[in-house]
Amino acid sequence: MSIQNLHPKIDLHPKVRTVASTQSEKTEIVLPNDTNMLGHLLGGRLMHFIDLTGAMAAYRHSRANVVTAAMDHIDFIRPVRLGDLVTLKSSVNRAFTSSMEVGVKVWAENTRTGEVAHVASAYLVFVALDEQGRVARVPQLQPETPDEVRRYEDALRRREHRERESVRRTAGKLAVAALEAEQDTSS
Ligand SMILES: CC(C)(COP(=O)(O)OP(=O)(O)OC[C@H]1O[C@@H](n2cnc3c(N)ncnc32)[C@H](O)[C@@H]1OP(=O)(O)O)[C@@H](O)C(=O)NCCC(=O)NCCS
Repeated sequence: MSIQNLHPKIDLHPKVRTVASTQSEKTEIVLPNDTNMLGHLLGGRLMHFIDLTGAMAAYRHSRANVVTAAMDHIDFIRPVRLGDLVTLKSSVNRAFTSSMEVGVKVWAENTRTGEVAHVASAYLVFVALDEQGRVARVPQLQPETPDEVRRYEDALRRREHRERESVRRTAGKLAVAALEAEQDTSS
């Protein structure tokens, strides 16, 4: 029997979802294989945890396959040490047509002292794909609290910034290609 048969009022594919319904969490213990020579968690390993935790929120929002389109901003505020517990929390900040901006915040806990510190934050963009791998529409997000509204508005500004940067990078690549072509023909 499906969930919908058990609870006829639950809509598994609503057109609008809340931020709370996307919230996700993951905790890892930092092992020797995760660290550098100083016994600090490797940045790449932390980015992997961030990617996974971000994807969880995007899955919960879209209920579809998702791919990471961008990890556009990450601050490593302080090192995470061997033996620490790392907790990551994510939620969707805003949904657009097929893409979702997800915020991930990371804390490290010293297992001996119990001290907990904010160590990193990141924004990622995930894109939903259908079963054929085509870009798919996602539900809209309804922010409810003042913090959620602030993040929702900031997400639009970051999207506009990302788009401007993408245009700037493309123009830069075209200019370099044109210069190289000119040098090839003159040599
Ligand atoms: C992400 C991907 C599906 C987008 O495909 P595309 O052909 O550019 O699709 P579109 O141009 O229709 O854009 C679809 C959405 O993706 C967003 N998008 C595409 N590239 C993006 C980027 N670099 N950063 C942020 N958003 C991006 C678009 O803004 C659009 O969002 P919207 O529908 O909400 O407006 C495609 O680039 C891809 O498959 N990339 C590889 C993903 C991957 O393998 N990730 C893991 C790598 S570690």
